[in-house]
Amino acid sequence: MMTQWGWQGLGSLAAMIPLQPPAASSIAGEIDQLYYLLTAITLFFTVLIFSIIFYFMVKYRRRSKDEKPPDIHGSLVLELAWTIIPSLICVVIFVWSSSLYIRAYHPPANSTEIFVVGKQWMWHLQHPEGPREINELHVPLGVPVKLTMTSQDVIHGFYVPSFRIKKDVLPGRYTSLWFEATEAGTYHLFCTEFCGTNHPEMIGWVYVLSPRDYAAWLASNENSEPMWQQGERIFNHYTCNYCHVPDGSGRGPSLVGIFGKPEKLASGEMRPVDEDLIHQALNEPNSVPVAGYAPIMPTFKGQFTEEQILQLIAYIKSLGSQERANAK
Ligand code: CUA
Repeated sequence: MMTQWGWQGLGSLAAMIPLQPPAASSIAGEIDQLYYLLTAITLFFTVLIFSIIFYFMVKYRRRSKDEKPPDIHGSLVLELAWTIIPSLICVVIFVWSSSLYIRAYHPPANSTEIFVVGKQWMWHLQHPEGPREINELHVPLGVPVKLTMTSQDVIHGFYVPSFRIKKDVLPGRYTSLWFEATEAGTYHLFCTEFCGTNHPEMIGWVYVLSPRDYAAWLASNENSEPMWQQGERIFNHYTCNYCHVPDGSGRGPSLVGIFGKPEKLASGEMRPVDEDLIHQALNEPNSVPVAGYAPIMPTFKGQFTEEQILQLIAYIKSLGSQERANAK
């Protein structure tokens, strides 16, 4: 017989087994609860169904060689029960998980943005304030952080188990993730797509610092030229400013204040000016000619690294934005 002590010993032993990583983001606790519910429902019905099977096996076993069971022509009550109950359970799971999904994948408007580039076989990260990191990401505690991610080569996957977030990182496209860290500490970062020989080495750490420590970390960093300024240098170096004149009198559209707004293409289609449109316009400008302008923009395919394109995007975002006005 187990004594009080024995049970407690077992309990603390169980707690020592790392069944799951710590829950360290605002969404992690609820995602765990959803998984507990799914596991509990699965366990409950597995046990229920197998118990009934064994019970019936014994109860309705064949007792003699020529025994013939009576015909059964259905039971309305039973059929309604096994239709309505599982349907209700599915609706509960659907409503909860989709509301959780929507919250988990829509960054709050006040998020701090950090840029991620995956490449064989490392993570390059850059903060808008300028600092760059490789396989390490420093973030402030209790602040929503939005990651804007792309790949320089093949498909990678950005995964921080303790934050319960994961998303693929694709070449030629931007995906985003967000999280709000709820506990200071160091958490594992993984690549979850088999991206080549050294895929297992594509791992890193996320350091969650108190807002004060984070500000100190930012200040101590050598590369403190903001991303938009780096983008502005590229913009001028490649003479983009010759055509994209701020007052709109150039041969290309003015880029001031256009980020996030819809732009009319020559085809009549309206497309929001986002990271993807800028990426496409740089690589295949003829595929997105802007209404009212001659399609004379040359392609810059292969001329920029993904990090430089992100800096250009940061610059275009900053044009006409409030932050920029404050920075000047
Ligand atoms: Cu990148 Cu696996």
